[in-house]
Amino acid sequence: MKFSYSYIIVLLAIIAVSQAEFCNLNFKECQDLKLKTGTSLGKVSNLSFNGTCSSEGFAVLKKGTVVEIDFQFQSYNPQATLKSVVHGQISGSPWLPFPLGNPDACKDSGLTCPIPANTTLNYKPNLKVLSSYPALKVLVKWQLQDARKADIFCVVLPAEIAE
Ligand SMILES: *[C@@H]1O[C@H](CO)[C@@H](O)[C@H](O)[C@H]1NC(C)=O
Ligand SMILES: *[C@@H]1O[C@H](CO)[C@@H](O)[C@H](O)[C@H]1NC(C)=O
Ligand SMILES: *[C@@H]1O[C@H](CO)[C@@H](O)[C@H](O)[C@H]1NC(C)=O
Repeated sequence: MKFSYSYIIVLLAIIAVSQAEFCNLNFKECQDLKLKTGTSLGKVSNLSFNGTCSSEGFAVLKKGTVVEIDFQFQSYNPQATLKSVVHGQISGSPWLPFPLGNPDACKDSGLTCPIPANTTLNYKPNLKVLSSYPALKVLVKWQLQDARKADIFCVVLPAEIAE
């Protein structure tokens, strides 16, 4: 009895720690969702952020916090210029532009440009979740684009803005 209690406590502590560090997000490629034709000039292998995920795999974005997203990706070509373009969709609305504080992925986001081809890299932008945002579920479309505005990746992740 005593043993199993301490086992459960240790297990809960491990779960709490791993949730605080990051959670893996359930993302989809834009082309698989028919949001674009053609292929991208790279791909995302993993996507996580330093917050909690809901049981359905939504990123729970707590108002008034800053989150760090971690896009683990490869670009099929070397790139000197990288820019993020983000849109949000709320229950079937059109995709609305979501302006980023720092759309330049070569700046303050864990990358050193030019980036090499076919190398696994981590792009880690920060996102401010403003207190003024409404609490709702939103699909986030995140495109990383080269100098010609071609997608290196385009992924959609479900998120939930929460109090
Ligand atoms: C993606 O993350 C999962 C969970 O942490 C891990 O098991 C997997 O190895 C990662 N994939 C890559 C390509 O790093
Ligand atoms: C997540 O990362 C951001 C940026 O580094 C930091 O400001 C924030 O406190 C972190 N959040 C947690 C829960 O660790
Ligand atoms: C990178 O990988 C892509 C797709 O597999 C390939 O077409 C391309 O030639 C590779 N580029 C380099 C510089 O190796």
